[in-house]
Amino acid sequence: MAIKSLEDLFVETLKDIYYAEKKLVKSLPKMSKAASDEKLSELIMEHCAETEEHVKRIERVFDLMGKKPSSKKCEALEGLLKEANSVIDEIEDETVCDAGIVSSAQTVEHYEIARYGTLAAWARELGMEEAAELLDTTLDEEKAADQKLSALGESEENQRAAA
Ligand SMILES: [Fe+2]
Ligand SMILES: [Fe+2]
Repeated sequence: MAIKSLEDLFVETLKDIYYAEKKLVKSLPKMSKAASDEKLSELIMEHCAETEEHVKRIERVFDLMGKKPSSKKCEALEGLLKEANSVIDEIEDETVCDAGIVSSAQTVEHYEIARYGTLAAWARELGMEEAAELLDTTLDEEKAADQKLSALGESEENQRAAA
């Protein structure tokens, strides 16, 4: 579709993150399974459960706009997942692989944080307060997931990988 207004751009970006979240619901279990450290594996699965809620919140935002949810292939996330898969497939040392998985997972969170920050700001600009609040709720969960990954990486995975 031709993007002519901020609302059009908002909808296109919503389709992008909708694709990304649905793809993550399918991809995070693989990342979790690949982790050798149980804490890392559990953290990723906890966030996978939150991610299912992220999908629902986006559907609610589409609903608030009177639109059917639709998605558009997110090339950025596809690229990030490709990199994550090569970490999983190519690194033989378990501890180094775990440090790589933390890094890959955080890269995904940073992408989501960027998207939700923008979407919440645009929703407010467009006078869609309820949508902005839903997007903010997800944004907070993405930030929390990122911080938990940082903490685990710094206290465990990076040290083990360096040892
Ligand atoms: Fe998410
Ligand atoms: Fe996330």
